[in-house]
Amino acid sequence: MNTLPELLLHILQAIGLGLGVALILWLLRRYAPIRRVQVSALVGALVLGAYLIVRGSNLPGETTVLNILLASAVMLGANTLIQLFDAFLWDYLLGRRRHIAVPRLLVDIFNFVALTTVALAVLNGIFHVNLNALLVTSTVASAVIGLSLQDILGNVLAGVALQLEHPFTVGDWVQINTHTGRVTQMNWRTLILRTRDHHHIILPNANVAKHEIINYSRPTSLQRLHARLGVAYPHPPGLVKQVLTRAVSEVAGVSAAPAPEVTVMAYGDFAIEYDIRYWITDYDQVEQIEDAVLTRLWYSLRRAGLTIPFPTHNIAVRTLAENHEARAHERLQQEVFAELRQLTLFAPLSDAQIGQVASGASLQRFAVGEALVRQGEVGDSLFVIKSGRVRVDKRGEDGQTITVATLGPDEFFGEMSLLTGEPRSAWVIAIEETETIEVDKPDLAAVIASDTPLLEALSTALDERVRNSIEKMLLGTGPLAEKRAPIPRGAFLYRIQQFFGVKSG
Ligand code: CMP
Repeated sequence: MNTLPELLLHILQAIGLGLGVALILWLLRRYAPIRRVQVSALVGALVLGAYLIVRGSNLPGETTVLNILLASAVMLGANTLIQLFDAFLWDYLLGRRRHIAVPRLLVDIFNFVALTTVALAVLNGIFHVNLNALLVTSTVASAVIGLSLQDILGNVLAGVALQLEHPFTVGDWVQINTHTGRVTQMNWRTLILRTRDHHHIILPNANVAKHEIINYSRPTSLQRLHARLGVAYPHPPGLVKQVLTRAVSEVAGVSAAPAPEVTVMAYGDFAIEYDIRYWITDYDQVEQIEDAVLTRLWYSLRRAGLTIPFPTHNIAVRTLAENHEARAHERLQQEVFAELRQLTLFAPLSDAQIGQVASGASLQRFAVGEALVRQGEVGDSLFVIKSGRVRVDKRGEDGQTITVATLGPDEFFGEMSLLTGEPRSAWVIAIEETETIEVDKPDLAAVIASDTPLLEALSTALDERVRNSIEKMLLGTGPLAEKRAPIPRGAFLYRIQQFFGVKSG
């Protein structure tokens, strides 16, 4: 039996311990990890206090009570230390300092193993339980449980492996086995992919770990795509490559760097096969970009007079093609003539003059977003819009682009380079599917030289457009070349007359 002073001493020790722990917790209350362990630490201190008081009291059943109190205090203390360790190692050292996000699943497993180890030590050290016997029993139990939960455990372990290896994360575009989709969720047992068709595919982690994984979002979102195309044999590969590269590089969503490239893949049965390689950074848009590329290729090839052949017999093709082409050319001439005849710009011209202009003219079709004319490029043809609409964009010296006009059917552009011989002064971009008639300079030059009203109409348009561009650009910001000097009305006429060798009247 304790003496009274001894009991008092134990009570004082217990109170001191409780107050000491409470004081430490209060002093460190501003630190988040301490707040997390407050309850566990305080209860642990109280249990330890109770242990001190009961110890030596010689109460009936004292040993059992003491063992229970000590075991509880040790478990609570261990829990407090593990929590503090978690906060220090995972959150602070790895998370904040090294920016490594350790998956919660791993932390939970670590805590579980640590606490189980402490619990086993307590059972053995305090309650003198024979761990060997316990292990045998638990081994049998785990074997039974393990067998029945084989699949689930397999998935959980695969989940842990995936979390550790980190081959992808939520939001990534991946291909696993035959499934392609965006990772929307990863949990203990499964991985959820959302496909382009908005199907949710739930894949067990074990399956995912078994297959090869293609990640389209990591380590970089830059991905290369291919478009394969056959172009007819008569067209020189150098020219074809030029046309294809240019067409693809102007499609929205195709990266400028690395630039697209075109290679000859094979000389096939009926076509030269090309591989068009281009880069994208937004895998989300892959289908739209592929569609835009293939669409754009058709238009560009068509305009450049390059044909995509289909399998046929040689002899039949040649005979047909020659007749067909001759007739098609004739039809085109008639069509162009009829179109030009209706234009206000060419109204003063005689049929013979229009026929002359139409002789080398060509009909062309552009897709939305395509450039018909590029600022700074050399060019001397005039475009008349048959159908559709275009936007005229001017880029200033500061790189800023301003839309100075939109033009539609019966209107024309390209007169500036044609009349002055200078590089194209603006970008002209189709804002609708647009058909144009492109008239070559030599065909027009002869008519212009002999037809003053036409020359005047063109130079007046040029004059007004230059003036209009300057006004529009001045409304924008930044230093622009055109801000330099005002241009007097009719300033171009003389220059143009000189250029075309026409005497001023
Ligand atoms: P060109 O310089 O040959 O090529 C670009 C064309 O855009 C240009 O000829 C004009 O036809 C046209 N253009 C330039 N500025 C304007 C404007 N302000 N209004 C209408 N068309 C313009």
